[in-house]
Amino acid sequence: MTRLLAIETSCDETAAAVVEDGRRILSSVVSTQAALHAPYGGVVPELASRHHLENICPVIEKAMADAGLGFPELDAVAVTQGPGLVGSLLVGLQAAKGIAFVHDKPLVPVHHLAGHLEAPALAHGDIPLPALALVVSGGHTSLFEVPGRGEYRLLGRTRDDAAGEAFDKVAKLLGLGYPGGPVIDRLAEGANDHAHEFTIARIKDGRPDFSFSGIKTAVLYHVKREGVTPVEDPAQATPEIRDLVASFQRAVVTALVRKLKQTAQQRRPRSLLLTGGVAANRRLRRDAARAAEELGLPLFVPPIALSTDNAAMIGAAAQVALEQGRRAGWDLNADPHLPLG
Ligand code: KG4
Ligand code: ZN
Repeated sequence: MTRLLAIETSCDETAAAVVEDGRRILSSVVSTQAALHAPYGGVVPELASRHHLENICPVIEKAMADAGLGFPELDAVAVTQGPGLVGSLLVGLQAAKGIAFVHDKPLVPVHHLAGHLEAPALAHGDIPLPALALVVSGGHTSLFEVPGRGEYRLLGRTRDDAAGEAFDKVAKLLGLGYPGGPVIDRLAEGANDHAHEFTIARIKDGRPDFSFSGIKTAVLYHVKREGVTPVEDPAQATPEIRDLVASFQRAVVTALVRKLKQTAQQRRPRSLLLTGGVAANRRLRRDAARAAEELGLPLFVPPIALSTDNAAMIGAAAQVALEQGRRAGWDLNADPHLPLG
């Protein structure tokens, strides 16, 4: 039995979890800073690192207390090394190093996206491999092939904005607050998603890449041309705004699912994974489920608490890394652009 303490501070969630054998969550604590960054319509890196610093010790202490364990009982300490905001990553990294050093435990470095990629197995148990995974969050929109356990091969990614970033920016320009994804998801329900035709750039060079900066600009031009007035509060959203965000959401989700389906037809995986913060989107879940059915493949989507940033998924990925013999030295540094696959 292996018990890991995992720490995640790559963006605006301060998170710690204790995970047993990479499968059982003994505790998972997530302290989100969303309200702190809301007035700015996006994450302010300096504010994020300062708040990680204030929250990191109480979050770790709560994770240990909830698990009913003391540090000496741990088998390893895992931490997100990157990618992410460097000032935020460093807070988690230093905390992890401190605990591992004092208690003489192995230190396991984890790639943030490996965490997202292991979330479906953490939630549902062993996944039929090879799998094709769509990781879609505020910072990433990537297609990975998972040929074997702990193997991640990057097939495609966004060339500009991430899908979640597009949700956040469109929400911001309409006065709907931050993070924008959940609000747009809610406002779009029951609205006319065919009110506007927004097109998503199709990448023509054969790579399964994405591009979402064009649609954000298209929505901005529409708002200016039609004189749409931003609201003060999502509760004041007019039918015009609801139709607009529903049409935007349809375009983004259609592009994501189309690429997932096309790539699955080419790569012939045995399962599909949908993970990352935007995987919480109900339209995306519905459309991806339909595509999976048409392909005759099982689709694994973690529950929302494991889709958005959390440390339990980092613990699950760390278990795989630990079994593969990955250890970091005391010179481990944060890498804001750490590659995977
Ligand atoms: O994975 P995550 O928590 O953090 C990153 O690693 O980026 O993802 C956060 C992103 C934000 O852009 C947020 O707007 C988006 O996920 N998001 C959603 C929904 N819930 C969260 N986007 C669309 N629909 C949702 N229901
Ligand atoms: Zn993430």
